Amino acid sequence: MRMSVIGCGYLGAVHAAAMASIGHDVIGIDVDDRKVAALSDGTAPFFEPQLVELLRQGLESGRLRFSNSMADARGARVHFVAVGTPQVTGGHAADLRFVDAAIRELLPHLGDGDVVAGKSTVPVGTAARLSEIIAPSGATLVWNPEFLREGWAVHDTLTPDRIVVGVPAGPDGAAAADVLAEVYAPAIAGGTPYLVTDLATAELVKGAANAFLATKISFINAMAEIAEASGADVALLADALGYDSRIGRRYLGSGIGFGGGCLPKDIRAFAARAEELGRGEAVGFLREVDKINLRRRDRAVQLVIDALGGMVFGRRIAVLGAAFKPFSDDIRDSPALEVAVRLRGLGADVVVTDPAAIDNARRMHPQLGYAQGRDEALQDADAVVVVTEWDEYRREMSPVHAAGLVRRQIIIDGRNCLDSAAWRAAGWDYRGMGRR
Ligand code: UGA
Repeated sequence: MRMSVIGCGYLGAVHAAAMASIGHDVIGIDVDDRKVAALSDGTAPFFEPQLVELLRQGLESGRLRFSNSMADARGARVHFVAVGTPQVTGGHAADLRFVDAAIRELLPHLGDGDVVAGKSTVPVGTAARLSEIIAPSGATLVWNPEFLREGWAVHDTLTPDRIVVGVPAGPDGAAAADVLAEVYAPAIAGGTPYLVTDLATAELVKGAANAFLATKISFINAMAEIAEASGADVALLADALGYDSRIGRRYLGSGIGFGGGCLPKDIRAFAARAEELGRGEAVGFLREVDKINLRRRDRAVQLVIDALGGMVFGRRIAVLGAAFKPFSDDIRDSPALEVAVRLRGLGADVVVTDPAAIDNARRMHPQLGYAQGRDEALQDADAVVVVTEWDEYRREMSPVHAAGLVRRQIIIDGRNCLDSAAWRAAGWDYRGMGRR
């Protein structure tokens, strides 16, 4: 099927390449010339496992192209809108500027019977408003939220847990649902549930899913605060809770909390929209979820200060990790980098390392020290802080080898991802977050 993908960021670039890989004829469109040039060249503008291979296959097959001209969307049967919806400056709501602009610019190129499929995360009610704008073109607007995780984007796009498509009532909506079922035929044939809903429900599924995940993480981090005050161990608590299949262990990873370009801004936008709808109270707990999350960053900094006897000024601190999570070079609202920046602000000699995110981190925070490799970062450190649980730190870092590099054997495990017994056995002062 011929399709356009408007917006080639994390979501759009992966979606375009994935759609080409299952046999569709795809044009990816973005206003950023550099991004278009990189993608056309088979280079990913960001780090995402498997994406480069998929891009190159698509480009070689001739089924995948990129352009900076909206006119190239003309003739496609489905137009996916995958532009960003950041947080507005000075408020909590989602900024719909890019979505509105994409729809406005696409409008003259739409044909009767085209399907416009929104994938961006938007406040509930957006799709109904946009439907009215595109109605005169004869195209149908549907909402098809995306649930991919960075670092697993290709996997999640090709084999999602579910596909949700919100459609308007009536025959046009039913026909559009059939078109989307054709788009996703391989996944559906492989057993992926295909849920057709109204527009508002589809928009809500996405916001609600991210709100639930954020709540689960903050729940365990709230338990970490209680564990800190009572001498319990939150990691063991999470294991014990997780064996209850009604609860489950996933997203009970305690530590410095969630960041990135999605969960933090999405819970705020969700609460802001609920306020507009006069139902702010219903999701008032999301404000607590946000606060608990941000408190973990303070706590990590405090742990370092305590471990160094009350002062970090002039102390060399190795910060292992800058990305908001492993397998990503994304530093948007990264708790890892925030900890590094705060320690630097207190006068510490901070050396940050990360397998993928150093270039991005350096651009945004040139005041921090950087090391290319782990050992270089550890050299002569007075304290080591693990803030992104890359395998390089979690699995591959030997406490004995590390002991030979540092000045003082102090390690703060901001992701509760290390084997505390092994580190202590090697003579380290190990401090986790909410752990004994
Ligand atoms: C999240 C959702 O998981 C996706 O389903 C959704 O599509 C995406 O947002 C989006 O809205 O686009 P992502 O931001 O890529 O995906 O990252 P996650 O893997 O969910 O992690 C988010 C943050 O939570 C990270 O900082 C991670 O370190 C943290 N986290 C995750 C924890 O602190 N504990 C956990 O147990 C799990």
